[in-house]
Amino acid sequence: MTTQARPTSLKDSLGRILRDLRISVTDRCNFRCPYCMPAEIYGERYHFLPKNTVLTFEETTRLAKLFVGLGVRKLRLTGGEPLLRQDVEQLVSMLSGIDGLEDLSMTTNGSLLTQKAQALKDAGLQRITVSMDSLDDAVFKQMSGRNFLPRHALEGIRAAEDAGLSPIKINCVVQKGVNDHTIVDLARHFKGTGHIVRYIEFMDVGTLNKWDLAQVMPAREVVERISAEMPLEPVDKNYPGEVANRYRYIDGTGEIGVIASVTQPFCQDCTRGRLSAEGELVTCLFANSGTDLKTPMRAGASDEDLIDMITGVWQRRQDRYSELRSSLTSKQRELRKVEMYHIGG
Ligand code: GTP
Ligand code: 5AD
Ligand code: SF4
Ligand code: SF4
Repeated sequence: MTTQARPTSLKDSLGRILRDLRISVTDRCNFRCPYCMPAEIYGERYHFLPKNTVLTFEETTRLAKLFVGLGVRKLRLTGGEPLLRQDVEQLVSMLSGIDGLEDLSMTTNGSLLTQKAQALKDAGLQRITVSMDSLDDAVFKQMSGRNFLPRHALEGIRAAEDAGLSPIKINCVVQKGVNDHTIVDLARHFKGTGHIVRYIEFMDVGTLNKWDLAQVMPAREVVERISAEMPLEPVDKNYPGEVANRYRYIDGTGEIGVIASVTQPFCQDCTRGRLSAEGELVTCLFANSGTDLKTPMRAGASDEDLIDMITGVWQRRQDRYSELRSSLTSKQRELRKVEMYHIGG
Protein backbone atom coordinates (compact mmCIF):
# COMPACT_ATOMS: atom_id res chain seq x y z
CA MET A 1 0.00 0.00 0.00
CA THR A 2 1.33 3.46 -0.76
CA THR A 3 1.32 6.28 1.77
CA GLN A 4 -1.35 8.10 -0.25
CA ALA A 5 -3.71 5.13 -0.20
CA ARG A 6 -3.74 4.90 3.58
CA PRO A 7 -6.57 6.31 5.65
CA THR A 8 -5.64 9.78 6.93
CA SER A 9 -7.10 9.16 10.31
CA LEU A 10 -5.88 6.27 12.27
CA LYS A 11 -8.08 4.86 15.04
CA ASP A 12 -7.00 3.00 18.14
CA SER A 13 -8.87 0.09 19.68
CA LEU A 14 -11.19 2.51 21.50
CA GLY A 15 -11.94 4.54 18.35
CA ARG A 16 -9.63 7.48 19.20
CA ILE A 17 -7.81 9.04 16.28
CA LEU A 18 -4.16 10.03 16.22
CA ARG A 19 -4.28 13.81 15.90
CA ASP A 20 -1.47 15.29 18.03
CA LEU A 21 2.14 14.35 18.45
CA ARG A 22 4.29 15.61 21.31
CA ILE A 23 7.96 15.37 20.41
CA SER A 24 10.54 15.40 23.20
CA VAL A 25 13.80 16.82 21.83
CA THR A 26 15.96 16.26 24.91
CA ASP A 27 15.67 14.62 28.31
CA ARG A 28 17.87 17.31 29.88
CA CYS A 29 16.55 20.17 31.96
CA ASN A 30 18.06 23.09 33.83
CA PHE A 31 15.23 22.99 36.41
CA ARG A 32 14.66 20.31 39.01
CA CYS A 33 10.93 20.62 39.67
CA PRO A 34 10.29 18.20 42.55
CA TYR A 35 7.13 16.90 40.84
CA CYS A 36 9.12 15.92 37.75
CA MET A 37 12.90 15.60 38.30
CA PRO A 38 13.55 15.76 42.05
CA ALA A 39 17.05 17.18 42.65
CA GLU A 40 17.95 14.49 45.16
CA ILE A 41 17.64 11.90 42.38
CA TYR A 42 18.64 13.94 39.33
CA GLY A 43 21.80 15.50 40.75
CA GLU A 44 24.39 17.43 38.74
CA ARG A 45 26.04 14.18 37.68
CA TYR A 46 22.94 12.33 36.61
CA HIS A 47 23.52 10.55 33.30
CA PHE A 48 21.15 11.75 30.66
CA LEU A 49 20.87 10.18 27.23
CA PRO A 50 24.16 10.15 25.31
CA LYS A 51 24.03 12.38 22.24
CA ASN A 52 24.11 9.61 19.65
CA THR A 53 21.04 7.94 21.13
CA VAL A 54 18.93 11.05 20.61
CA LEU A 55 17.17 11.42 17.26
CA THR A 56 18.84 13.80 14.83
CA PHE A 57 16.76 16.65 13.39
CA GLU A 58 16.56 14.75 10.09
CA GLU A 59 15.30 11.61 11.84
CA THR A 60 12.73 13.56 13.85
CA THR A 61 11.52 15.37 10.75
CA ARG A 62 11.26 12.15 8.80
CA LEU A 63 9.11 10.58 11.50
CA ALA A 64 7.03 13.73 11.94
CA LYS A 65 6.23 13.71 8.21
CA LEU A 66 5.07 10.11 8.45
CA PHE A 67 2.89 10.97 11.44
CA VAL A 68 1.35 13.90 9.56
CA GLY A 69 0.69 11.54 6.66
CA LEU A 70 -1.22 9.37 9.15
CA GLY A 71 -3.45 12.23 10.29
CA VAL A 72 -1.46 14.18 12.88
CA ARG A 73 -2.28 17.91 12.61
CA LYS A 74 -0.61 19.32 15.73
CA LEU A 75 3.01 19.01 16.78
CA ARG A 76 4.31 20.19 20.14
CA LEU A 77 8.00 20.21 21.02
CA THR A 78 8.78 19.32 24.63
CA GLY A 79 11.70 18.11 26.72
CA GLY A 80 13.05 17.98 29.40
CA GLU A 81 13.62 21.58 28.46
CA PRO A 82 13.42 21.83 24.65
CA LEU A 83 15.44 25.05 24.47
CA LEU A 84 18.48 23.18 25.82
CA ARG A 85 18.62 21.27 22.56
CA GLN A 86 21.27 23.00 20.52
CA ASP A 87 19.91 24.88 17.48
CA VAL A 88 16.38 23.66 18.15
CA GLU A 89 15.11 26.49 15.92
CA GLN A 90 16.57 24.55 12.98
CA LEU A 91 14.29 21.66 13.83
CA VAL A 92 11.36 24.08 14.11
CA SER A 93 12.15 25.34 10.66
CA MET A 94 12.28 21.81 9.24
CA LEU A 95 9.00 20.83 10.91
CA SER A 96 7.15 24.01 10.00
CA GLY A 97 7.58 23.17 6.34
CA ILE A 98 5.64 19.90 6.61
CA ASP A 99 2.60 19.87 4.32
CA GLY A 100 -0.66 19.32 6.13
CA LEU A 101 0.55 20.43 9.55
CA GLU A 102 -1.81 22.95 11.17
CA ASP A 103 -0.24 23.76 14.52
CA LEU A 104 3.35 23.87 15.73
CA SER A 105 3.98 24.79 19.36
CA MET A 106 6.37 24.25 22.25
CA THR A 107 6.17 23.77 26.02
CA THR A 108 9.15 25.34 27.83
CA ASN A 109 10.18 26.48 31.28
CA GLY A 110 10.94 29.88 29.72
CA SER A 111 14.43 30.30 31.16
CA LEU A 112 16.07 30.61 27.74
CA LEU A 113 13.29 32.37 25.92
CA THR A 114 14.83 35.83 26.00
CA GLN A 115 17.59 34.45 23.79
CA LYS A 116 15.43 32.18 21.65
CA ALA A 117 11.93 33.61 21.18
CA GLN A 118 12.60 35.60 18.01
CA ALA A 119 14.57 32.82 16.34
CA LEU A 120 11.76 30.37 17.13
CA LYS A 121 9.14 32.67 15.64
CA ASP A 122 11.27 33.30 12.56
CA ALA A 123 11.69 29.55 12.11
CA GLY A 124 7.90 29.06 12.06
CA LEU A 125 6.89 28.31 15.65
CA GLN A 126 3.31 29.55 16.03
CA ARG A 127 2.69 29.66 19.77
CA ILE A 128 4.26 28.74 23.06
CA THR A 129 3.39 27.50 26.54
CA VAL A 130 5.56 28.56 29.45
CA SER A 131 5.56 26.73 32.79
CA MET A 132 5.25 29.06 35.76
CA ASP A 133 4.01 27.69 39.05
CA SER A 134 3.95 30.88 41.13
CA LEU A 135 4.78 34.59 41.18
CA ASP A 136 6.15 34.26 44.68
CA ASP A 137 9.96 34.09 44.73
CA ALA A 138 10.28 31.44 47.43
CA VAL A 139 7.53 29.23 46.03
CA PHE A 140 8.87 29.52 42.47
CA LYS A 141 12.35 28.59 43.64
CA GLN A 142 11.06 25.61 45.57
CA MET A 143 8.97 24.37 42.63
CA SER A 144 11.69 24.81 40.02
CA GLY A 145 14.32 23.28 42.26
CA ARG A 146 17.11 25.62 41.20
CA ASN A 147 18.05 29.26 41.56
CA PHE A 148 15.50 30.65 39.13
CA LEU A 149 13.03 33.39 39.99
CA PRO A 150 9.60 34.29 38.61
CA ARG A 151 11.12 37.32 36.97
CA HIS A 152 13.15 35.03 34.70
CA ALA A 153 9.97 33.35 33.47
CA LEU A 154 8.26 36.74 33.09
CA GLU A 155 11.14 38.05 31.00
CA GLY A 156 10.85 34.97 28.79
CA ILE A 157 7.11 35.52 28.41
CA ARG A 158 7.74 39.15 27.47
CA ALA A 159 10.25 38.05 24.81
CA ALA A 160 7.69 35.60 23.40
CA GLU A 161 5.12 38.38 23.31
CA ASP A 162 7.51 40.74 21.53
CA ALA A 163 8.35 38.06 18.99
CA GLY A 164 4.64 37.61 18.20
CA LEU A 165 4.20 34.06 19.46
CA SER A 166 0.48 33.84 20.16
CA PRO A 167 -1.47 32.79 22.09
CA ILE A 168 0.84 32.40 25.06
CA LYS A 169 -0.25 29.90 27.68
CA ILE A 170 1.12 29.66 31.21
CA ASN A 171 1.16 26.20 32.83
CA CYS A 172 0.89 26.04 36.60
CA VAL A 173 1.06 22.70 38.39
CA VAL A 174 -0.98 23.05 41.57
CA GLN A 175 0.28 21.24 44.66
CA LYS A 176 -1.78 21.62 47.79
CA GLY A 177 0.25 23.08 50.62
CA VAL A 178 3.00 24.18 48.23
CA ASN A 179 1.61 26.81 45.82
CA ASP A 180 -2.16 26.73 46.17
CA HIS A 181 -2.06 29.96 48.20
CA THR A 182 -0.58 31.76 45.17
CA ILE A 183 -2.90 30.60 42.36
CA VAL A 184 -5.26 33.58 42.57
CA ASP A 185 -2.35 36.03 42.34
CA LEU A 186 -1.11 34.27 39.23
CA ALA A 187 -4.54 34.54 37.61
CA ARG A 188 -4.81 38.21 38.56
CA HIS A 189 -1.39 38.99 37.11
CA PHE A 190 -2.26 37.62 33.68
CA LYS A 191 -5.91 38.74 33.57
CA GLY A 192 -6.28 41.23 30.74
CA THR A 193 -2.94 40.37 29.08
CA GLY A 194 -4.36 37.93 26.53
CA HIS A 195 -2.29 35.10 28.03
CA ILE A 196 -4.09 32.00 29.27
CA VAL A 197 -3.10 30.51 32.62
CA ARG A 198 -3.80 26.79 32.89
CA TYR A 199 -3.82 25.06 36.24
CA ILE A 200 -2.75 21.42 36.10
CA GLU A 201 -3.66 18.90 38.78
CA PHE A 202 -0.53 17.36 40.29
CA MET A 203 -0.24 13.96 38.58
CA ASP A 204 1.34 10.64 39.49
CA VAL A 205 3.55 10.64 36.42
CA GLY A 206 6.74 8.60 36.65
CA THR A 207 7.70 6.87 39.85
CA LEU A 208 9.91 9.35 41.64
CA ASN A 209 7.85 12.40 42.50
CA LYS A 210 6.32 11.09 45.75
CA TRP A 211 2.83 11.67 44.44
CA ASP A 212 0.16 11.82 47.06
CA LEU A 213 -3.54 12.27 46.33
CA ALA A 214 -3.74 14.54 49.37
CA GLN A 215 -1.59 17.06 47.46
CA VAL A 216 -3.93 17.21 44.49
CA MET A 217 -6.13 20.27 44.52
CA PRO A 218 -9.20 19.41 42.45
CA ALA A 219 -9.56 21.72 39.44
CA ARG A 220 -13.08 22.53 40.60
CA GLU A 221 -11.62 24.09 43.73
CA VAL A 222 -9.11 26.10 41.70
CA VAL A 223 -11.97 27.55 39.65
CA GLU A 224 -14.00 28.30 42.79
CA ARG A 225 -11.13 30.15 44.44
CA ILE A 226 -10.38 32.30 41.41
CA SER A 227 -14.04 32.89 40.62
CA ALA A 228 -14.71 34.08 44.18
CA GLU A 229 -12.50 37.08 43.45
CA MET A 230 -12.79 37.41 39.68
CA PRO A 231 -16.02 35.77 38.49
CA LEU A 232 -15.69 33.10 35.82
CA GLU A 233 -18.04 31.18 33.56
CA PRO A 234 -17.38 27.99 31.58
CA VAL A 235 -16.66 28.10 27.84
CA ASP A 236 -16.80 25.25 25.29
CA LYS A 237 -13.59 23.51 24.31
CA ASN A 238 -11.74 24.89 21.30
CA TYR A 239 -11.47 21.43 19.76
CA PRO A 240 -12.43 17.86 20.69
CA GLY A 241 -9.64 16.32 22.74
CA GLU A 242 -8.45 19.62 24.25
CA VAL A 243 -7.11 18.67 27.68
CA ALA A 244 -8.03 21.94 29.39
CA ASN A 245 -11.51 22.91 30.51
CA ARG A 246 -11.89 26.60 29.70
CA TYR A 247 -13.39 29.41 31.78
CA ARG A 248 -13.65 33.08 30.90
CA TYR A 249 -13.83 36.13 33.11
CA ILE A 250 -17.37 37.44 33.08
CA ASP A 251 -16.01 40.98 32.64
CA GLY A 252 -14.51 39.94 29.29
CA THR A 253 -10.85 40.27 30.28
CA GLY A 254 -9.64 36.86 29.25
CA GLU A 255 -9.74 33.18 30.12
CA ILE A 256 -8.10 30.47 32.19
CA GLY A 257 -8.01 26.69 31.83
CA VAL A 258 -7.87 23.77 34.20
CA ILE A 259 -6.40 20.38 33.38
CA ALA A 260 -8.18 17.93 35.64
CA SER A 261 -6.53 14.71 34.66
CA VAL A 262 -6.90 13.24 38.16
CA THR A 263 -10.42 14.29 39.16
CA GLN A 264 -12.01 14.40 35.67
CA PRO A 265 -9.98 12.13 33.39
CA PHE A 266 -10.23 12.80 29.67
CA CYS A 267 -8.86 9.53 28.25
CA GLN A 268 -11.91 8.94 26.11
CA ASP A 269 -10.89 11.85 23.88
CA CYS A 270 -7.14 11.29 24.02
CA THR A 271 -5.71 11.81 20.55
CA ARG A 272 -2.09 12.29 21.64
CA GLY A 273 0.94 10.23 20.76
CA ARG A 274 4.36 10.98 22.20
CA LEU A 275 7.78 10.56 20.64
CA SER A 276 10.63 10.38 23.14
CA ALA A 277 13.98 12.01 22.46
CA GLU A 278 15.47 8.58 21.72
CA GLY A 279 12.76 7.79 19.20
CA GLU A 280 10.27 5.68 21.11
CA LEU A 281 6.59 6.01 20.34
CA VAL A 282 4.73 6.20 23.64
CA THR A 283 0.94 5.99 23.56
CA CYS A 284 0.15 7.27 27.06
CA LEU A 285 1.69 9.67 29.56
CA PHE A 286 1.49 6.80 32.03
CA ALA A 287 2.81 4.04 29.78
CA ASN A 288 5.52 1.80 31.16
CA SER A 289 7.35 1.54 27.85
CA GLY A 290 7.35 2.70 24.26
CA THR A 291 8.01 1.24 20.83
CA ASP A 292 11.48 1.85 19.48
CA LEU A 293 11.32 3.48 16.03
CA LYS A 294 14.93 4.63 15.99
CA THR A 295 16.62 1.22 15.81
CA PRO A 296 14.66 0.06 12.76
CA MET A 297 15.07 3.49 11.19
CA ARG A 298 18.85 3.36 11.66
CA ALA A 299 18.88 -0.20 10.36
CA GLY A 300 17.42 1.00 7.07
CA ALA A 301 13.65 0.65 7.49
CA SER A 302 11.68 2.20 4.65
CA ASP A 303 8.92 4.76 5.19
CA GLU A 304 6.45 1.97 4.54
CA ASP A 305 8.00 -0.20 7.25
CA LEU A 306 7.86 2.67 9.73
CA ILE A 307 4.27 3.52 8.81
CA ASP A 308 3.33 -0.10 9.39
CA MET A 309 4.94 -0.04 12.82
CA ILE A 310 3.24 3.21 13.85
CA THR A 311 -0.10 2.06 12.49
CA GLY A 312 0.11 -1.25 14.33
CA VAL A 313 1.02 0.40 17.63
CA TRP A 314 -1.81 2.93 17.39
CA GLN A 315 -4.39 0.38 16.28
CA ARG A 316 -3.56 -1.82 19.29
CA ARG A 317 -3.64 1.11 21.71
CA GLN A 318 -5.91 0.65 24.72
CA ASP A 319 -4.44 3.15 27.18
CA ARG A 320 -6.74 4.96 29.58
CA TYR A 321 -4.68 5.16 32.72
CA SER A 322 -6.33 8.22 34.24
CA GLU A 323 -9.75 6.63 33.98
CA LEU A 324 -8.49 3.47 35.64
CA ARG A 325 -6.36 5.18 38.31
CA SER A 326 -8.90 5.06 41.08
CA SER A 327 -9.58 1.37 40.58
CA LEU A 328 -5.88 0.40 40.66
CA THR A 329 -4.13 -0.74 43.81
CA SER A 330 -1.17 1.41 44.85
CA LYS A 331 1.08 -1.50 43.84
CA GLN A 332 -0.37 -1.52 40.34
CA ARG A 333 0.05 2.26 40.17
CA GLU A 334 3.67 2.00 41.14
CA LEU A 335 4.60 -0.32 38.27
CA ARG A 336 7.40 1.34 36.38
CA LYS A 337 6.09 4.31 34.42
CA VAL A 338 7.88 6.53 31.93
CA GLU A 339 9.33 9.57 33.68
CA MET A 340 7.77 12.88 32.64
CA TYR A 341 11.00 14.51 31.51
CA HIS A 342 11.45 11.65 29.01
CA ILE A 343 8.25 12.44 27.19
CA GLY A 344 7.62 16.06 28.06
CA GLY A 345 4.19 15.83 29.64
P1 GTP B 1 -2.92 22.93 23.65
O1 GTP B 1 -2.55 22.48 22.30
O2 GTP B 1 -2.60 24.36 23.88
O3 GTP B 1 -4.30 22.56 24.02
O4 GTP B 1 -1.84 22.19 24.54
P2 GTP B 1 -1.80 21.12 25.64
O5 GTP B 1 -2.64 21.57 26.77
O6 GTP B 1 -2.05 19.78 25.09
O7 GTP B 1 -0.25 21.18 25.99
P3 GTP B 1 0.57 21.34 27.29
O8 GTP B 1 1.94 20.87 27.04
O9 GTP B 1 0.51 22.72 27.78
O10 GTP B 1 -0.19 20.37 28.26
C1 GTP B 1 -0.49 20.75 29.50
C2 GTP B 1 -0.36 19.62 30.46
O11 GTP B 1 -1.51 18.82 30.43
C3 GTP B 1 0.76 18.66 30.16
O12 GTP B 1 1.95 19.14 30.56
C4 GTP B 1 0.35 17.50 30.97
O13 GTP B 1 0.70 17.78 32.30
C5 GTP B 1 -1.15 17.54 30.77
N1 GTP B 1 -1.49 16.68 29.66
C6 GTP B 1 -1.33 16.95 28.34
N2 GTP B 1 -1.73 15.91 27.61
C7 GTP B 1 -2.14 14.98 28.48
C8 GTP B 1 -2.65 13.68 28.34
O14 GTP B 1 -2.82 13.17 27.25
N3 GTP B 1 -2.95 13.00 29.47
C9 GTP B 1 -2.79 13.53 30.69
N4 GTP B 1 -3.15 12.77 31.71
N5 GTP B 1 -2.30 14.75 30.86
C10 GTP B 1 -1.99 15.47 29.78
N1 5AD C 1 1.91 16.75 37.38
C1 5AD C 1 1.34 17.69 36.58
N2 5AD C 1 2.01 18.37 35.65
C2 5AD C 1 3.31 18.11 35.51
N3 5AD C 1 4.24 18.63 34.70
C3 5AD C 1 5.42 18.01 34.93
N4 5AD C 1 5.28 17.08 35.91
C4 5AD C 1 3.97 17.15 36.30
C5 5AD C 1 3.21 16.45 37.27
N5 5AD C 1 3.75 15.52 38.06
C6 5AD C 1 3.97 19.71 33.75
C7 5AD C 1 4.99 20.81 33.77
C8 5AD C 1 4.88 21.40 32.40
C9 5AD C 1 4.37 20.27 31.57
C10 5AD C 1 5.33 19.84 30.53
O1 5AD C 1 4.10 19.22 32.45
O2 5AD C 1 4.78 21.79 34.69
O3 5AD C 1 4.01 22.50 32.33
FE1 SF4 D 1 12.20 20.55 33.68
FE2 SF4 D 1 9.67 20.84 32.91
FE3 SF4 D 1 10.39 18.73 34.39
FE4 SF4 D 1 10.37 21.14 35.49
S1 SF4 D 1 8.58 20.02 34.67
S2 SF4 D 1 12.02 19.60 35.69
S3 SF4 D 1 10.99 22.42 33.81
S4 SF4 D 1 11.07 19.16 32.32
FE1 SF4 E 1 -4.28 9.91 27.23
FE2 SF4 E 1 -3.03 8.30 28.90
FE3 SF4 E 1 -3.54 10.82 29.58
FE4 SF4 E 1 -5.53 9.04 29.42
S1 SF4 E 1 -3.84 9.02 30.85
S2 SF4 E 1 -5.52 11.14 28.63
S3 SF4 E 1 -4.81 7.82 27.70
S4 SF4 E 1 -2.18 10.12 27.93
